[in-house]
Amino acid sequence: MKLGVIILAAGQGTRMKSQLPKVLHKLAGKPLLSHVIDTASHLNPEKIIVVYGHGGDQVKQKINNPSITWVEQSQQLGTGHAVQQTVYELAGLDRVLILYGDVPLTTTDSLQRLIQNQSKLSLLTAFLDDPTGYGRILRNKFDQIEKIVEHKDATEEQHSICEINTGIMSVDKEKLVNWIERLQSNNAQNEYYLTDIVGFAVSDGDEVIATHPDNNNEIAGINDRKQLAHLERDYQQNRAEKLMLDGVTLADPARLDIRGNIEFGQDCEIDINVILEGKVKVGNNVRIGANTVIRNCEIADNVTILENCVFEEAFIGPGSSLGPFSRLRPGAHLDGNAHIGNFVEIKKSTVANGSKVNHLTYIGDSEIGAGVNIGAGTITCNYDGANKHKTVIGDNAFIGSNTALVAPVTIEKGVTIGAGSVITKDAKANSLTLTRGKQISIENWPRPEKK
Ligand code: UD1
Ligand code: CA
Repeated sequence: MKLGVIILAAGQGTRMKSQLPKVLHKLAGKPLLSHVIDTASHLNPEKIIVVYGHGGDQVKQKINNPSITWVEQSQQLGTGHAVQQTVYELAGLDRVLILYGDVPLTTTDSLQRLIQNQSKLSLLTAFLDDPTGYGRILRNKFDQIEKIVEHKDATEEQHSICEINTGIMSVDKEKLVNWIERLQSNNAQNEYYLTDIVGFAVSDGDEVIATHPDNNNEIAGINDRKQLAHLERDYQQNRAEKLMLDGVTLADPARLDIRGNIEFGQDCEIDINVILEGKVKVGNNVRIGANTVIRNCEIADNVTILENCVFEEAFIGPGSSLGPFSRLRPGAHLDGNAHIGNFVEIKKSTVANGSKVNHLTYIGDSEIGAGVNIGAGTITCNYDGANKHKTVIGDNAFIGSNTALVAPVTIEKGVTIGAGSVITKDAKANSLTLTRGKQISIENWPRPEKK
């Protein structure tokens, strides 16, 4: 069966009150439309068609996915009209799945169930305590689906029906093409309603089947920022619960945000107000302190991260301890058992096993050996205003406090650098190297007196 997916995303989204097209607003750090595209991709369709309108160029540019077929709907005359615009793109397909760009959390499982159904028209419907605003599913006395009536067109009596149209449906391609040609716009909104194809199916003698999502979050659409925030909280709660069931202790599941793909080993603990973003892989027995942000990092076993750290694109080897207030920038690679302390920034540098950088330090474009001690206030001066240069520090070197290492420079193994030095030339192994005026004392120094 050759499956095509149509994602309707042309709506204005006026209630977002935003310059940004609605489908580009983010849930869990990812545009709403990208959630839908990713879910659709898991079904391995022949084709994914996105119907765009409002802010089309911005949407195409942001989504930047060459496998999408973009179809413009310049005037938004309804969901049926939107599907009509795609007709020339449907050749060669057997079945079409219709999704909405502003319904981000539908699962592949629910969609799989919907499309496995071989009836000419299958609807994803749901039961809501408050069905206000949605199209209602009308069934006959044999419980067969007869029609969808939009809220605005429904009678008082129909308003009490709780089975609603989610808008998501799977349709036989040939039938769809035939049905959408027959749509009329004589209704309360003067729109071409895609939902009217249900009536055509019934009159053609094609049974209309309904399947349901596992969870009503899956069919929640975003119309305003309040709904976006609610759905974000729901989503985060689910991810936190899953993480706890996978063996991670959370100080407060309501105060962790996950925006990406994460993987944890066993017996990890996460304190409050932590953000995990992008791809984050964490080993066993890792503690993450409060107010920490970790983006695209790999963290090995037995790592302790104290409060208020920010790590991005870094590798943290086993047994390391970091923070409070440490910052790892892209390309920081700690082999293991490192001690990284407060107000330390490390960028594009390797730190071999057991080295310590404990206070007020900048390490950039450096290679640091094993067992090294970097004193407080040490700076690698890696940038000359035009180019970046490298600092190399050998095993067991000891860099005295408040040292400036002016790169390119090599400090060989076992070197001791005297505190307060500005090092511009290489230091030979096991030497004491320092650059400092000699200390002098003048006894009984007469302080100036006020005139
Ligand atoms: C639609 C359904 C309704 C269902 C509800 C679920 C119809 C007629 N009604 O109503 O039965 O309960 O969704 O949320 O289908 N869109 C376009 N072009 C258009 C109009 C809409 O691309 O011309 C897109 C929107 O961007 C959105 C989706 O289609 O992603 C749904 O449009 P919306 O206006 O929200 O439909 P509803 O009136 O809520
Ligand atoms: Ca809607």
